[in-house]
Amino acid sequence: MGDTPILHFEKLTKRFPGVLALDNVTFSVRRGEVHALVGENGAGKSTLIKIVTGVYQKTSGEIFFDGKPVYFANPHEALRNGIAAIYQEFNLIPALTVAENIFMGHHFVKRRFFVDWNRMRQEAQRLMRFLDVDIDVDQKVRDLGVAKKQVVEIAKALSHKARVLIMDEPTATLAQKEIEGLFRIIKFLKNEGVTVIYISHRLEEIYELCDRVTVLRDGRHVATQDVKDVTMDDLIRMMVGRGVTEKFPRTSHTIGEEVLRVEGLTRRGVLRDISFSLRRGEILGIAGMVGSGRTELLRAIYGVDPIDGGKIYIRGKEVRIRSPLDAINHGIALLPEERKVHGLVLLLSVLDNLGLPMLPFVSLRGFINDGRLKTIAQDMVHHMNIKTPSLYQKVMYLSGGNQQKVVLGKWFARNCDIYLFDEPTRGIDVGAKVEIYHLMNRLLERGASIIMVSSELPEVLAMSDRILVMREGRIVGELSREEATKEAILRLALGRREEYASVG
Ligand SMILES: Nc1ncnc2c1ncn2[C@@H]1O[C@H](COP(=O)(O)OP(=O)(O)OP(=O)(O)O)[C@@H](O)[C@H]1O
Ligand SMILES: [Mg+2]
Repeated sequence: MGDTPILHFEKLTKRFPGVLALDNVTFSVRRGEVHALVGENGAGKSTLIKIVTGVYQKTSGEIFFDGKPVYFANPHEALRNGIAAIYQEFNLIPALTVAENIFMGHHFVKRRFFVDWNRMRQEAQRLMRFLDVDIDVDQKVRDLGVAKKQVVEIAKALSHKARVLIMDEPTATLAQKEIEGLFRIIKFLKNEGVTVIYISHRLEEIYELCDRVTVLRDGRHVATQDVKDVTMDDLIRMMVGRGVTEKFPRTSHTIGEEVLRVEGLTRRGVLRDISFSLRRGEILGIAGMVGSGRTELLRAIYGVDPIDGGKIYIRGKEVRIRSPLDAINHGIALLPEERKVHGLVLLLSVLDNLGLPMLPFVSLRGFINDGRLKTIAQDMVHHMNIKTPSLYQKVMYLSGGNQQKVVLGKWFARNCDIYLFDEPTRGIDVGAKVEIYHLMNRLLERGASIIMVSSELPEVLAMSDRILVMREGRIVGELSREEATKEAILRLALGRREEYASVG
C-alpha cells in the first residue's frame, strides 16, 4: 500500500449553472508530500478542494482516498475521515475559547454525560506545544490575530488526526514573520507524515515549500510535476497559456503639481504626525510591515476613521474630510483591504457591482442609461479578464480572485483624481496583475494620482515613483525610485539591522 497515492482524482468534473468549473481532472497526491495547486483566478482550485471536503458535490468522476473511492456529504464527514481544509474565511466561533474551538463537535466526555473541560484544555495545550506556538488556549478566538487563528485551525485539524491538510491561500493576509511561522509548521507537519495541499498565487512560495505542483487552467488539468523540474516562467506559461514577458509594465508619465498634502496627521495610538504630499500623475508607494499603520493612514485620509489632529489639503486648499462621502466629493477613491466586507455586494450581479459607483455618470435626469452601463461593465470584464458566465451572475458565485477584480473594476470605471489602493493585487493571479498595472498606468495618463499600500516588495519597487516607509504609525523614511531597494525598505520598516538579517 506504500505506493498508493493518498489522494487520486479520476476524471473529476464539476458543473455549475453556466460554468464548467472542473473538466475531467485526473492527478494524484503522494503520501507525505507538500503538493501545490496553482492556476489563474477561476481555474477551479477552490472548487476542487471543496469537492474533496464535501462542501460541493461532484458532477461526475471519482476521488480515491488511500486507494478507496470516497464520497463525503459535508466537511464534517471529511474531517472525521482525516481530510481537513483551512479556508480564508475561518470556521471558528469568535466568542468561544481556543480550546473550545479545537474540540467543538468532538469534545471529550466524562462520566458519560459531562464535557471533560480539563482534558480538553490539556489536549489543546499539548497541541500548541506540539506545534511549538505560544497561544493561550483559554483566550477567546475573537482576540486573536489572523496568524494565530490559522494556527488554531491547524490544531483543530490535528485534533481530528487529519492526514491530509488543505490550505487555500493561507499567506494572503499574513505578515512576513507570520509567513515564516506558518512555513515552519507546514514543514514540521510534513515530517510528521501529514500530506499538505497548498494553494497560492505567490509562486516563490511554491519553490520554498512544495515537492510537486499541479497546474489547472480553465477547469482542466495541465500538468503535475516535481517543483525542481519547472522554472517559474514554465509555471506561468502553463497557468496562463502564454508567457508573461513584462511582469511590471510601467509607462513613463509626467509628474505634475501637488494634488494632495497631508500635514501632521495624527490619530491617537495609531498614526503619529504624518506629513507628505502627492503629485499629479504619481504613484506613491507605502511600504511597511503589517500593523505599521498603512491601512489606517488610507482610512484616515478617506474619512473612515476620525483624526485627532492634522490637516489635509487638496490642490492647495484645506479640506475637512469627515466621512467617505466627503472624500468621494473631493474626488478620492479607496480600494479597501477587506474586499468582502467593504467593497462588494455579494448578492448583487457583476453588472450592478461594477455599475454602483458609476450611477451618477450614466443616469440622465434620474433615468439610468442601461446600454451605456452595460457597455462600460462589459469593457471592464474584458480588460480585467473577469471570469463570469455573464454580467448577471451574482458576485458571490465568482472565484475569490475574480471577486477582487470586480472591486477593482468598480473604481477604475469611475473618474477620480486620487486613488487610494490597499493591497491592490492580493489574491490576484499573475496574468491579471499585469492587467491591473496597465489600468493604473491608464489612470495616471488620465491625470489621476495613486497612493498604493502593498506588502509585495517587487510590486512597490517596480510601480512606485516614490516610496514612503512606515513603522509604528510613523513615516520613517522616504525613498526615491533610484534609492529604493528591497534592503533599504526592509531596513527602515524593521528599524533594526539584526532583525532585517533574519528576514533576508
Ligand atoms: N457556487 C458557485 N456557483 C457558480 N459558479 C461557481 C461557484 N463556485 C465557483 N464557481 C465558478 O467556478 C469557477 C472556478 O472557481 P474557483 O473558485 O474554483 O476558482 P479558483 O481557482 O479558486 O480561483 P481564485 O484564484 O480566484 O480563488 C469560476 O468560474 C467560478 O466563477
Ligand atoms: Mg479560490
